[in-house]
Amino acid sequence: MKIAILGTGMVGKALGTKLVEIGHRVLMGSRTASSEAGQEWRDSVNGLGQIGTFAEAAAFGEIILDCTNGANSIEALRQAGAENLRGKILIQVSNPLDFSKGMPPSLTVCNTDSLGEQIQREFPEARVVKALNTINCAIMVQPSLLPEDHDLIICGNNAEAKQEVTRLLGEWFGWKHECIIDLGDITASRGTEMYLALWVRLWGVLGTPYFNLKLVRGR
Ligand SMILES: NC(=O)c1ccc[n+]([C@@H]2O[C@H](COP(=O)([O-])OP(=O)(O)OC[C@H]3O[C@@H](n4cnc5c(N)ncnc54)[C@H](OP(=O)(O)O)[C@@H]3O)[C@@H](O)[C@H]2O)c1
Repeated sequence: MKIAILGTGMVGKALGTKLVEIGHRVLMGSRTASSEAGQEWRDSVNGLGQIGTFAEAAAFGEIILDCTNGANSIEALRQAGAENLRGKILIQVSNPLDFSKGMPPSLTVCNTDSLGEQIQREFPEARVVKALNTINCAIMVQPSLLPEDHDLIICGNNAEAKQEVTRLLGEWFGWKHECIIDLGDITASRGTEMYLALWVRLWGVLGTPYFNLKLVRGR
């Protein structure tokens, strides 16, 4: 599959590396065509992946993963170009974290809106599925890193796109179908993004980013 990774940070690198390892064609996008971080990633995968601008990546990908800096994701997606997102699934991983006042971060948008919604509104023809934003990137690509089953929450307006993302997360990374919870339309990203306030504090207390939610249901 031809996959666009938008973002050259640790998330883009983790996802891109796993996807080339399992045989997909990946183009990692950045603000510049040949960013230093992109080159480092390409070297780390022995040239198996390609790098380019956000627009080149988005044009290339049959599916697009948004792993950009959340405070700047809309700008990055504008650079990717609405025409390159049209009709495609956009797995929206980034969180609208605001570190401008230090730790813990706040959110650039919350309560009555979310980054997932802002992106879906700005790019109405993209099929936005908010996913993977509630876990560390090492767990995204290897859920078996944790010793028990644990849950991933996704949401988005397009039911078919969510089914396809659920299938792909299983095929690519080994996420169990029953561990992926569809929380509903894209407004549910308010909850998964605001969860970051809890996630960051848990990270501090537990001393590791390797943890996740496990929902225990009543009968
Ligand atoms: N770290 C995790 O495990 C984890 C887990 C869940 C969710 N997330 C979320 O995933 C996202 C990516 O995190 P990260 O740490 O990998 O990377 P990051 O440092 O937050 O973002 C890197 C990317 O953002 C782009 N960017 C930065 N400023 C920009 C601007 N003004 N305009 C356009 N693009 C801009 C960069 O472009 P250049 O390539 O041009 O520099 C780069 O590609 C974040 O939203 C984070 O909250 C992270």
